[in-house]
Amino acid sequence: PYPHYAEIREETAVHEHPLGFWYVSRYDLVTALLRSGQSVETRHLAPHPVRDEMRKAAGGDDWRLGGLSMLDRDPPDHTRLRSLVAKVFTPRAINALAPRITELVDASLDRMAEAGRCDLVDELAFPLPFTVIADMLGMPPTDEDRLRELTGTLVRSLEPVGDPDLARRIGEADAEFTRLTADMIEWKRANPADDLLTALIDAEHEGDVLSDDELIAQVGLLYVAGHETTVNLISNGVVALLSNPDQLKALRADPTLIDNAVEELLRYDSPVQMSRRITTAPVEIGGQEIPTGSFVIASLASANHDPAFWGEDAADLVLNRPNARHHVSFGAGPHHCLGAALARLEGRIALGRLVERFPDLALDGAVEWNGRINLRGAAKVPVRT
Ligand code: HEM
Repeated sequence: PYPHYAEIREETAVHEHPLGFWYVSRYDLVTALLRSGQSVETRHLAPHPVRDEMRKAAGGDDWRLGGLSMLDRDPPDHTRLRSLVAKVFTPRAINALAPRITELVDASLDRMAEAGRCDLVDELAFPLPFTVIADMLGMPPTDEDRLRELTGTLVRSLEPVGDPDLARRIGEADAEFTRLTADMIEWKRANPADDLLTALIDAEHEGDVLSDDELIAQVGLLYVAGHETTVNLISNGVVALLSNPDQLKALRADPTLIDNAVEELLRYDSPVQMSRRITTAPVEIGGQEIPTGSFVIASLASANHDPAFWGEDAADLVLNRPNARHHVSFGAGPHHCLGAALARLEGRIALGRLVERFPDLALDGAVEWNGRINLRGAAKVPVRT
């Protein structure tokens, strides 16, 4: 996959795109950029034409997700927001979810078995992460279809290009999503329970708590990041396995391969294709000086396929690749994905049980892609069980 990335990577290590951003695609440079906290920041609110449109459309001050979530903050704000969330989003809380995830996966597989032919995204890849994060947060019942629509629009804000109409739609989706999230938090304050949302409301770290706006932004981030990404891991993962029968056969022959297989699938077809940063001082990357205030894209997907790091078989799916875990699909440095353990757990249980349950699983028509540049994934995967 990714012939276009290969072309850019071979041509120039650091590419200045005509649309006004910089594009970094080699493994060593991507990791160095993401780990350097000195002269790059993640601030969304820096001048950027598309974002300005979105902010205007969202009504200025109502702009929440784009500014107050940890993803778009730098130390010391980032450190404090991340510590407050990490305090309740613990490995213990995540591991305790394994039985519930297994139950949800098995219910999906039962439905698939009964249907015989179905869309894997509708039956498994989407409902699993969506239900897991909603359950974990303890979300009150809400209009799920509307939420799915809103988050599908919101994630387009992570892309480097956009037209004014898209920017306006993102801005409106952001304002509506913010209102919905604020309502859910209000409801939860009146109905506290043993869940992540209540824990976040009460979270305290060294005498510090989340303000109302910060709470809305972190909950929104967890909610969106919790499902829009893992969907792609499962759907792209299944497409990759079904397109590489020898690898699927190896996994069937040795189910203990599943942990490494999930790492390799994350590498092979990255659910998040890029991270973005803004330079706060001139930086030199790969011998190229990038000026202050530049929008820089770190191509995670390209880094994951760089033969200089992975070797000549970088483009192949090799489920027992010894260093598969070194992929950058969860980013690197201070913003390394907070939900990586949860995503891995869902991926292992969903893909492991799917492969075990259906020895004759096959594609049953053309795969449709979601048309996104960043959170790129298979939107429809017709299968026969
Ligand atoms: C950050 C990928 C699942 C929560 C990130 C980043 C990446 C990423 C690349 C870093 C972005 C940057 O550097 O700009 C993924 C992938 C997933 C996944 C590929 C699934 C396969 C999840 C899940 C959750 C989650 C399930 C939570 C429920 C977060 C949060 C951050 C983050 C809160 C921000 C961390 C920070 O800014 O310090 N993720 N993610 N992610 N992810 Fe994930």
